[in-house]
Amino acid sequence: MKKTTTLILLQCSMAMFSFAQTYNKLPIPEAVYGDYNSLTNVRQYGLIAHEGFTSFLPTGNQTVTAGYNRNSFLGPTLFLNNGDSIQMTVLNRLNTPTTVHWHGIHLPAVMDGGPYQVIPTGATWQPYWKVKDHAATYWYHSHLMDETDKQVTEGLAGLIIVKDDKEANLPLPRKYGLDDIPLIITDRTIDTTNNQFIVADSGNFEITNGVINAQDSLPSQVVRLRILNASVFRFYNFGFSNNLSFKIITTDGGLVNSPLLCSRALLGPGERIEILVDLSGKKDSSFDLMAFNSALAPTQPGGFDATVNTGPLMGIDFPCLHINVTGANADSAATSLSYSLTTLADNKFPKRSSANLQRNIQFDHLIDSAGNFYLTLNDTPFVLGNINYRIGLNDTEIWSLTNPGTLIPSSDPNYPFVGIPSSHAFHIHDIQFHVLDRFQYDNITKHYDIRMAPMPTEQGWKDDITVDMGDSVTFITVFSDYSDSLWPYMYHCHMLAHEDAAMMGDFVVVKNSSSTNAVKNHNMLDEEAAKIYPNPASDRLFVELRDNTTSVYYITVYDAVGRTKYMLPRPKLADGLNVGDLAPGNYFLKIMDTRGSIILKQFTKL
Ligand code: C2O
Ligand code: CU
Ligand code: CU
Repeated sequence: MKKTTTLILLQCSMAMFSFAQTYNKLPIPEAVYGDYNSLTNVRQYGLIAHEGFTSFLPTGNQTVTAGYNRNSFLGPTLFLNNGDSIQMTVLNRLNTPTTVHWHGIHLPAVMDGGPYQVIPTGATWQPYWKVKDHAATYWYHSHLMDETDKQVTEGLAGLIIVKDDKEANLPLPRKYGLDDIPLIITDRTIDTTNNQFIVADSGNFEITNGVINAQDSLPSQVVRLRILNASVFRFYNFGFSNNLSFKIITTDGGLVNSPLLCSRALLGPGERIEILVDLSGKKDSSFDLMAFNSALAPTQPGGFDATVNTGPLMGIDFPCLHINVTGANADSAATSLSYSLTTLADNKFPKRSSANLQRNIQFDHLIDSAGNFYLTLNDTPFVLGNINYRIGLNDTEIWSLTNPGTLIPSSDPNYPFVGIPSSHAFHIHDIQFHVLDRFQYDNITKHYDIRMAPMPTEQGWKDDITVDMGDSVTFITVFSDYSDSLWPYMYHCHMLAHEDAAMMGDFVVVKNSSSTNAVKNHNMLDEEAAKIYPNPASDRLFVELRDNTTSVYYITVYDAVGRTKYMLPRPKLADGLNVGDLAPGNYFLKIMDTRGSIILKQFTKL
């Protein structure tokens, strides 16, 4: 894990150049619908991660960046249909290892792409699953241990849009890029002497869909904006420069029951909303989607904090998208009703009384004996391989998140407070949750007992939530569908410098949460425990285990010098492994079974 040696993470103070008059057209990330394979009934998607160069500023060097497929920065938008069986083929062409995590998506842990699923340079990872999510906006991004901040800063992130029948039956705008606009809103610290990124907290340039000073033309009708706070650290308090009100229709994991009319929406890193904006009658007007960040507290990332060296966007209101309203499109009538919808969904949230147990998580810090300062959850810096929680399959749990910040004195002689003077953005993999309560710490009673009104973004399904200093947030969720004692899911602060500073934990979902069968030491079996044929192979390689009480859990294919070629979680073996694309030569197969035992085999590709 990476430690932070100073409490206040470096803030860069390079002057922000003013390019306010020159706008850049808002790029719309390419829509990828996958290739449907009618033989297997699987829809296949491909992502290739690679380095590149991107121009953000009108003069000077290009910036060294990373992206997926045709993009040198960020990636395409993956459209998934609820109910589809899908397979992702992820090839790492970066010069460094990476991972790809499907943020917000409910799927088996071994397909989830967290820090345990490292894809070395040159390797292909092939997860697959059945799409079970509600229609909403999700995203994917690198989740490499200690390097998430760096890799996401470079550009390794993209959107996922899930479609389902319920959403399809509503008269909502859904012409991608025309009246249904994806907005990946982020910021970067660019050192303007050489135009390179600096991995830092809140950046000095706002970037929307990969460009600074973005502008778009939108039709004078009801439009949908899908907003992702993709920043590595900053909170965004969204609203419009003309104070136009809007309706929130989705939160992180699906439609809300009824649209929520508001004029501001605060999103922490990783959070998403979809909003409807009624632009009818607004033809020929221009205004901005803004971050009204002058309203942020000093302890909210992006708020003005006089005690640190703040960057040019700190604590000010700044534009994220310049909008020019044009004439209505021909189909505006079809979606005009959407703004007056009163019911969108009938979400059934788990009841408090159904919870099996409550877990309490406190945003904390730890100073180890060597004097290293870590950010922690419950005083425990994250360590790969330590399973923090074992959760029973189908259990309903309440999680209570408290951020004592600097309100509570610590017993640590080296540091006066339990926490640090900052908000956090808590995210959990695998599930969507529902917020039950938000309380604030009462300095008189010394308890979190001042009830706060829920934020509009807290009404629906969520996987990511802000917890300000002095806040206590309680949510409820069910750990359904997927259990696996071999592979954990993660929970962490989504402010990436905090995540990389060890403010993270992991959990397995298991059929029997009281058993302790998590495999830590993988037992090596002799070569005879598996049979592979034909060997040599030219196209298909079949794998059979001798012990038929177990089955294949994971196959890794290495070349003769030990480079990983394929990573195949729970491979479907009926038709054999496809080895047709491997260059002729000798290879090793590492087979892990569902008990965590490992068998090594060698084969020759003709
Ligand atoms: Cu968006 Cu664990 O991450
Ligand atoms: Cu996630
Ligand atoms: Cu944090």
